[in-house]
Amino acid sequence: MSRIVVAVDGPAGSGKSSVSKAVARKLGYAYLDTGAAYRAFAWHAQNAGVELEDAASVASALPSFEFSEATDPDHFSVRVGEKDVTDAIRKPAVTGIVSLVARVPEVRAALTEVFRSIAAATERDGIVIEGRDITTAVAPDAQVRVLLTASEEARMGRRSAELTGYSAQVVGEQLKARDRADSRVVDFMTAADGVTTVDSTELDFDETVDAVIAVIRTNL
Ligand code: DC
Repeated sequence: MSRIVVAVDGPAGSGKSSVSKAVARKLGYAYLDTGAAYRAFAWHAQNAGVELEDAASVASALPSFEFSEATDPDHFSVRVGEKDVTDAIRKPAVTGIVSLVARVPEVRAALTEVFRSIAAATERDGIVIEGRDITTAVAPDAQVRVLLTASEEARMGRRSAELTGYSAQVVGEQLKARDRADSRVVDFMTAADGVTTVDSTELDFDETVDAVIAVIRTNL
């Protein structure tokens, strides 16, 4: 990866995806949402009829996983084979099972390779890669590494605003359950050595984008 890599990790509802996308847009960088790949694989594994509780069965769906993700922050889309799954992977049916596939080591290893080749193939000057283990496992050598956090209350509030039609309580319970399941796989709540924490609890969206850009400028 010779171009500039900005690695952004954080929990669900921290604003990570929308902030990373806006940062990429402002700097003319590519944007890679790695959670979307885990979601797309969960969607694929479920359609392939695997036993989601069984790691070996989940891993058996890897060879047939034909994944592609656009890295233009203005035209984001995710495909599995010929099918556009950009919207399907945001549905609660996928959100509810994604942690089961994300915990399988073979899945993490395969997707990590996919992320590295997508990053290497971008023609832009840089790429913002966001997820849970980007600063630690996918791109530990990135020039810029950020952990985007926010209080649980703020994160729940943002998720409920995004997901119209679901009660705040349902959204809150789902977010907490997912944080618990995800944090058993990767520690995305503590900043690793050399990672700058940006706490967005008291910041609005534009201020958070500016704070991340300030970290980038300091590190380049
Ligand atoms: O950020 P998100 O909610 O779209 O992530 C979807 C799931 O994928 C989430 O349960 C955690 C997992 N994930 C992961 O384990 N590692 C990543 N780098 C990104 C996401």
